[in-house]
Amino acid sequence: MKRLFYNPSQIVTANTAGKFFLRGNEMNEISILENHSILVENGIILEFPKNSELVLDDYKDIIDLTNKCILPGFVESHTHLVFSGSRSNEFKLKLSGISYEEIAKNGGGILHTVKSVRDSSIEELVHNSRIRIQKFIEQGITTLEIKSGYGLSFSDEIKILQVIKQLKNEFSIDIVSTFLGAHTFPPEYQNDKSKYISLITEEMLPFIKENNLAEFVDAFCETTAFSPTEVDIIFQKANELGFSLKLHTEQFNEIGGLNIALKNKAVSVDHLEVLTQNGISLLSNSETVATLLPGVSFFLNYNFAPARKLIDNNAIVALATDFNPGSSHILNFHFIMQLAAMRMKMSFEEIISACTINAAKALKMEANIGSLEIGKKADFVVLQSPNYSDLFYNIGQNIVDKTIKKGEIIYNVN
Ligand code: NIG
Ligand code: FE
Repeated sequence: MKRLFYNPSQIVTANTAGKFFLRGNEMNEISILENHSILVENGIILEFPKNSELVLDDYKDIIDLTNKCILPGFVESHTHLVFSGSRSNEFKLKLSGISYEEIAKNGGGILHTVKSVRDSSIEELVHNSRIRIQKFIEQGITTLEIKSGYGLSFSDEIKILQVIKQLKNEFSIDIVSTFLGAHTFPPEYQNDKSKYISLITEEMLPFIKENNLAEFVDAFCETTAFSPTEVDIIFQKANELGFSLKLHTEQFNEIGGLNIALKNKAVSVDHLEVLTQNGISLLSNSETVATLLPGVSFFLNYNFAPARKLIDNNAIVALATDFNPGSSHILNFHFIMQLAAMRMKMSFEEIISACTINAAKALKMEANIGSLEIGKKADFVVLQSPNYSDLFYNIGQNIVDKTIKKGEIIYNVN
């Protein structure tokens, strides 16, 4: 069955000519087509016919996009959206000057959410998450990554991964599952950290692999969480089992996480707020994606990652919300894009590349999604506006008109 997406004012293709990522200066080249339409068959992009050569009578299924801009569906590559409870009290403390790290040291932070998640049923967690995913879909997200990491015991981490599995079955968008058992040390293992590492490597990872519960393994490399040596042990085992890797690193302290991530061929390194010149050089021309999370800097009143320097040094940069209850309680992908424009000196075009094709690369899905190229999935976001710049200009408003997954409309304003 063919469907014609007819006469959009702009088609932002983010075309990579089959390379499937945009690095450094290339991130400005989002390859806009005008006076063309998109022909889709069985959920896949078939061609971009010129409007002047189209005979509309030949098509039974036409979606008129006159005066609307169409872009690749947004790829949200870093969230912690399966959680319960609220940390609004901590937010108040943070605003009064107490740091995120101090709160964590006093048993708040991630461990606060862990308590709540351990007390929640699968049904409760699915219910909370479903509402959040729906909001992302309304913002044009067609691919979404979700991490575990608020269980920190065998049964509670598996519970979260099962929630993600249920959500994958329920939603038509692509959902990618990441195991973050190494988020922080749970209270039971504070005095025997190597025992928790063994629990991860000997029990959790093999079970998750066997039951196909996650594609990625992630960890938090930080003075308050896991050391580079501990991350290395987990990553080596994960690599052996065939998982792909991501790392939360260089967020508050530079302790060697980036080196361990690169040594283990991580697909992405995420955060990088305190990245040094040496770190920038390591990511320059690297295949590892630098995923930046400006919502965290905004939410914690903290410095922003050096996006400009990374791009100027030829890195592959992606952007994500890091939506979570403690460091980025911001369920707004467009606001993240706007923050990158206003606070990170990224151009609108660089931001679009970072939220589409480069974010797809951060999920190893770049061959199928993230840009509008013949043979890729027909995943689109359509704006109520004729120009993509309006996405950045309309702060605090959702100007998405339609979200389209594999050629099907899954959210529609009109
Ligand atoms: O990506 N940095 C570690 N983990 C999360 C925060 C999780 C939390 O505070 O609950 C992050 O910022
Ligand atoms: Fe995170």
